Amino acid sequence: MRNVAKLCGFFLSALFAFFSFGAFAADAALERAPDTMQARVMGCAACHGAHGEGTDNDYFPRLSGKPAGYLYNQLLAFRDGRRKYPPMNYLLAYLPDAYLKQIADYFASERPPFAPPAPVRVDAKTLDLGKTLVTKGDASRKVPACVSCHGASMTGMEPAIPGLLGLHADYISAQLGAWRYGTRSTVAPDCMGQVAKLLNDRDITAIAAYLASLPAPSDPVPVAAGSFKMPLACGSVHN
Ligand code: HEC
Ligand code: HEC
Repeated sequence: MRNVAKLCGFFLSALFAFFSFGAFAADAALERAPDTMQARVMGCAACHGAHGEGTDNDYFPRLSGKPAGYLYNQLLAFRDGRRKYPPMNYLLAYLPDAYLKQIADYFASERPPFAPPAPVRVDAKTLDLGKTLVTKGDASRKVPACVSCHGASMTGMEPAIPGLLGLHADYISAQLGAWRYGTRSTVAPDCMGQVAKLLNDRDITAIAAYLASLPAPSDPVPVAAGSFKMPLACGSVHN
């Protein structure tokens, strides 16, 4: 029941944001507003926060501070249909690459504070499994440690690997699920798709709960490109 209510709330807020963006776009056209970055990202704020800091909604991600190349890849993926979420697909349809690149650069350079982590909803054993998979992986099942690509402090690596902190548990598990079921994909070889397909439901619950329980990183900046060698090739990462 709680989930149904939550989902309804989610769709209603998505619809609301979506239509208010439409109204904003129409007004802006009538008034011939200048094409400032502030105007471009106004339609994003309802779901991602004014500075991309994220909102209380469990499925709306924080954008700020993620590597610009990563954000740009996501905007292209939504525009071109490799990643599916209708309001985003619709908002970005037909926007030119250069325009999306500027939006990506804008959110990458924003550094709003992180919200405190939400209370943990799983037992200690599950949290422990999450920690093991994230920090060590599971060699017996060929699951690489998440930190081997996302960085020891999990703040990501330039130019295109995102950090994993400051995200809601439900968002993280939805993304890993989307890779498993093929509604999220990226340029081949899609390393995250390969990793996600090695995980079962219990692993995903554990990983999402563990990551969401961690405090904000003291230095949120992604590490420099090529700081470490990744265990698998990722087509979306051009060093
Ligand atoms: C109706 C709410 C809504 C609006 C409006 C919206 N987004 Fe999103 N956005 C989402 C959701 C939900 C996701 C995650 C979708 C998924 O599950 O893959 C997302 C994902 C993203 C991502 C990928 C983040 C990541 O870490 O992978 C980027 C980048 C992004 N949005 C940018 C924007 C920009 C730029 C705008 C404005 C032009 C915008 N969004 C407007 C809801 C919205
Ligand atoms: C071989 C390198 C590699 C490994 C190992 C890896 N990742 Fe990733 N991960 C990536 C790349 C590259 C992306 C960006 C994919 C894209 O552009 O869509 C990514 C993206 C993600 C995202 C999306 C973040 C967002 O904001 O939407 C999540 C969540 C994630 N990884 C979780 C994990 C977890 C959990 C593990 C460990 C089980 C893991 N990753 C292991 C390379 C890796």
